[in-house]
Amino acid sequence: MKFFIDTANLNEIKEAYDLGVLDGVTTNPSLMAKEGIAGKEKVIAHYKAICDIVDNNVSAEVIATDFEGIIREGKDLARIDDKIVVKVPMIKDGIKAIKKFTSEGIRTNCTLVFSSGQALLAAKAGASYVSPFIGRLDDISQDGLELIGQIRHIYDNYGYGTEVLAASIRHTMHLIKCAEIGADVATCPLKVIMDLLNHPLTDSGLAKFLADHKKANS
Ligand code: E4P
Repeated sequence: MKFFIDTANLNEIKEAYDLGVLDGVTTNPSLMAKEGIAGKEKVIAHYKAICDIVDNNVSAEVIATDFEGIIREGKDLARIDDKIVVKVPMIKDGIKAIKKFTSEGIRTNCTLVFSSGQALLAAKAGASYVSPFIGRLDDISQDGLELIGQIRHIYDNYGYGTEVLAASIRHTMHLIKCAEIGADVATCPLKVIMDLLNHPLTDSGLAKFLADHKKANS
């Protein structure tokens, strides 16, 4: 399973990359706003800075919601770097735009996906990635992980090449369950990636090993 980090914060991206397990980055307009990135030039410079840190797969989201606007903006984003994946919302003009980007060899990530029907449309349009938001479904008492399983099943039935990118991940159990189900990618905050390191028996076991070593060598 690929690990993407879900942030626009350069320090967090560097920290995850330094761990050696990072395969990409997802951003969205809210995450960019959180970092105070506004205005076309700053946005482009920020995406360039992200692309300089990681090896591939930087999702950059369009703001336009009409076909021409999505195409124009997506092409501008794709021109920044080959690592850019154009993130397009799951709306009618978004699906049409994904189809066009795909025919022109521009990679896409279909975002704001909350049903298997939406995921089926994204795959048929040729999206490189589909992003079901599991945490936001859980927030309204729907089973986000169940959706990941449904999409996996449908894509496997027909051999769709679209990768299932589990998004809106809140904790390590989400991540682990996504791996069990067979999501191709999980995008999550830095904390969730780092929390995978933790187990109390690792801590107590290491403390005992070091104490025994010290006793034997003193
Ligand atoms: C995905 O690409 C989104 O940026 C993200 O996972 C949304 O997560 P949230 O529900 O925590 O905002």
